[in-house]
Amino acid sequence: MPHPLLVSSDNKALPIWLANEKTWPGIAAKLPQNAQAFAKAQKFEAKAGSHCLLPDTDGNLLGVAFGLDGDDAKRIDPFLAGKLSSLLPDGTYRFETDAPDPALATLAWLLGSYSFNRYRKRSEKSVRLVVPKGVDAEEVSRIAEAVTTSRDLVNTPTSDLGPDGIEAAARKLAEKHGATFDSTIGDDLLKKNFPMIHAVGRASATAPRLIDITWGKKDAPRVTLIGKGVAFDTGGLDIKPASSMLMMRKDMGGSAAALALADMIMGAELPVRLRVLIPAVENSISANAFRPGDILQSRKGLTVEIGNTDAEGRLILGDALALADEDQPDLVVDFATLTGAARVALGPELPPFYTEDDALAAEIARYGEAVNDPVWRMPLWHSYQSQLDSKYADVNNTGGPMAGSVTAALFLSRFVSAAKAWVHFDIFAWNNSTKPGRPEGGEVQAARLMYALLKDRYGS
Ligand code: BES
Ligand code: MG
Ligand code: ZN
Repeated sequence: MPHPLLVSSDNKALPIWLANEKTWPGIAAKLPQNAQAFAKAQKFEAKAGSHCLLPDTDGNLLGVAFGLDGDDAKRIDPFLAGKLSSLLPDGTYRFETDAPDPALATLAWLLGSYSFNRYRKRSEKSVRLVVPKGVDAEEVSRIAEAVTTSRDLVNTPTSDLGPDGIEAAARKLAEKHGATFDSTIGDDLLKKNFPMIHAVGRASATAPRLIDITWGKKDAPRVTLIGKGVAFDTGGLDIKPASSMLMMRKDMGGSAAALALADMIMGAELPVRLRVLIPAVENSISANAFRPGDILQSRKGLTVEIGNTDAEGRLILGDALALADEDQPDLVVDFATLTGAARVALGPELPPFYTEDDALAAEIARYGEAVNDPVWRMPLWHSYQSQLDSKYADVNNTGGPMAGSVTAALFLSRFVSAAKAWVHFDIFAWNNSTKPGRPEGGEVQAARLMYALLKDRYGS
């Protein structure tokens, strides 16, 4: 079903003239005299991101002029025109002049109209768009729905979305696509040998769990997605300061990204054997919490010394990666809000990713750029492996004070050996401020690019 803001045609739709500072004078010259005069009176010059509502001779709305970026390819934001869905009055519009990438402009239109309204009444805006020529409305709608559903998960506070809420969301997704769903909860995690997931999550009033979804033909290429599902990260006993804890409801952003990608893959019926693993826990503080200095067993067989209970994501992912690895998938992809250090390195908009597979890395960078889902490769720098040495165990869960995102990725790498390829995304899962197509709040990062890559790779 196409998105409610998309219409296939409407001959009363108001035109949007997309222009830049160079093309605007030519476009303006063809407009009715009064509209030209009005734009001039407002000193509208089609500067990037600016807009001007134009009147007809009766004072009704004739259309809208909007400024795109100039010609500097490196600075062009293909989402820019999507800004209009949050600016314009309710109505139906169409692009009179082509957007540089009509599909991405349409997607940004939908993604930019998102707001998180669960806790207050807001009158819903309805700024509709006629699907531009050549744009696949089903496809854009599928992506927008997957992203916005997952944004809701990230934005929902832990009081309404604990580990059980993550499970409910995953179950709903599995049902939507007729996938097989399984969840291992509480002490069953010990019976089935997921000691680290249990240790991290056992102090919460809501039991830890490992969600396991499978879908698709058995003999198809095997793709396994893993998402960090920490419903809330207090830091555990090595407790976070208040300012760092404030946003930690978003620490399940990796699971939201994995679910969004799974929704796209299954919705498009890509010919893969899909598995989605989500360790869902709350990193809480209680008498039975795991402690700094504890040594944990792990599914992989490695013993893990706890340098800091706040490095919890890599522990639950370690057990999930070990399980994923057991059926030797063709590709393992994990998404995790794993480190603050990733933000120090690259900031909130550009998640680092890690893989040993150079060809895959090149593809990821290319698709990230192509679909405006930017990421940046960082190295699994092997000589830093020694930062994870432990005096008593096989490995420590913290490295030194430097290269924190790299050492976290190196920790994960210890749990992957049989998969043919593995990539780890250290995502932020949040927009700190509103940008076109990216409203402030929870965000899905790196899922759209992986969908584009898998779609091209496996065809359909
Ligand atoms: N969830 C955090 C990382 C995080 C913080 C992601 C802020 C996004 C924004 C993670 O569990 C964590 O606490 N990591 C520690 C690791 C450290 C104790 C080795 C960190 O990055 O400080
Ligand atoms: Mg933590
Ligand atoms: Zn965390």
